[in-house]
Amino acid sequence: MSLKPGSIEARDAAALLHPMVNLGVIEERGALMIARGEGAYVWDHDGKQYIEGLAGLWSTALGYGNEELAQAAFDQIKTLSFQHLFNGKSHEPGMLLAEKLKSMVPMQASKVFFGCSGSDANDTQVKLIWFYNNALGRPKKKKIIGRVKGYHGITLAAASLTGLPPMHNQWDVPLDGRFIHTDCPHHFRFAEKGESEEDFATRLAHNLEQLILREGPETVAAFIAEPVMAAGGVLVPPRTYFEKIQAVLAKYDVLLIADEVVCAFGRTGNAFGSQTFNIQPDTMTMAKALTSSYQPLSAVVIPEKMYGPMLEASRKLGTFGHGYTYSGHPVCAAVALKTLEIYERDRIFERAAQLSLKFQAGLRSFADHPLVGEVRGVGMIGALEFVSNKATKAGFTPPGSIGTYCFERCHVHGLIPRNVGDGIALCPPLIITEAQIDEIFGKLTLALNDTLDYVTREGLLAA
Ligand SMILES: Cc1ncc(COP(=O)(O)O)c(C=O)c1O
Repeated sequence: MSLKPGSIEARDAAALLHPMVNLGVIEERGALMIARGEGAYVWDHDGKQYIEGLAGLWSTALGYGNEELAQAAFDQIKTLSFQHLFNGKSHEPGMLLAEKLKSMVPMQASKVFFGCSGSDANDTQVKLIWFYNNALGRPKKKKIIGRVKGYHGITLAAASLTGLPPMHNQWDVPLDGRFIHTDCPHHFRFAEKGESEEDFATRLAHNLEQLILREGPETVAAFIAEPVMAAGGVLVPPRTYFEKIQAVLAKYDVLLIADEVVCAFGRTGNAFGSQTFNIQPDTMTMAKALTSSYQPLSAVVIPEKMYGPMLEASRKLGTFGHGYTYSGHPVCAAVALKTLEIYERDRIFERAAQLSLKFQAGLRSFADHPLVGEVRGVGMIGALEFVSNKATKAGFTPPGSIGTYCFERCHVHGLIPRNVGDGIALCPPLIITEAQIDEIFGKLTLALNDTLDYVTREGLLAA
């Protein structure tokens, strides 16, 4: 299939370098051009309607076209369209948002630092932790432990924290020896035969401890974790995992960074994923639903135990040499404040917890489908993993091909999910209705059955 010369798809393919896609596919088939959105729906350039099964990119909790958020941005642009935070300047929306986040997070919060993306926020995390350890006179304590299949973004440090091969292969990351990875906590794939979730968690905590001891505890600064690993496939940790991991971290004075870029703001049924999984973070990263994706904004929250030494170091150095032109951009901050106000006023987190009963039950109804090896999820996020053989859990060759096939069939049926390996992830806007949840599952059923027909036709299922 080739692109029609002069079509919007052909012009797009000729001019735009697309992220996170097979570039060859864009050259041959073009991108799906989305033209507008409203509530839980988007429409493509030809006027076809899709229900948003992924809330944009795990992010637009309030759906599309929210008038209040548009008004908040408009009002702020008229009042103060830009003000940086460098060299001792500040502004009220930034101050108010920092105060608000401090009051919300489940940690002892001292200061909030703003960026524009989850990636730059995680780079900030790394730099602040290095700065802090230098300030404490611990120049060797610099290594950060990520996890296999973790996703923390794509800038150099964030991609180094990430544990997904496509983000490493031929990209010359992870950078040097400061970024290391420990086990992926996916029980379905990595537990030993007959191993309970609790025993699996115990083994992973033991492996983490061995890793820290091998590296030398005096060299290990932090461990970063998403409460639920989203891009890695919506991997929900096994029971007791975070309790056991945190005990190891505490023993060796290793900070825990909670990467809440996807989980924060109601996604798992509580305000923060850390609350759902009994995580007591030392620092936190947020982005995405902080503005419901209406503006690019991220936040890093640090505790007083880090701020104190950083303050002393800054006094000695004469500055604090970190910041972005758009750190705390007033328009982004104003939109975030309005987003948080709507979450509170409309009880969006409680709504997510309530809707999750139907959403999770709907997902689990696919467990007996011949293609589905595992159904997993929590709150308003979940995934199906496809297998060619339910007994052996064998996947497909090449890996990811059947996930991609199903993803494309979802588009045909008017549903936008995300393909994660040979699986499909869902993370709908939190304003979705019960009827719209039914609509998502109805369309997913059609796509799954098309996929089953395909793998059956091709002889890809175990006999
Ligand atoms: C957990 C997590 N951290 C960080 C990021 C990176 O965020 P961004 O794409 O805004 O840089 C993502 C993006 O999906 C994410 O899921």
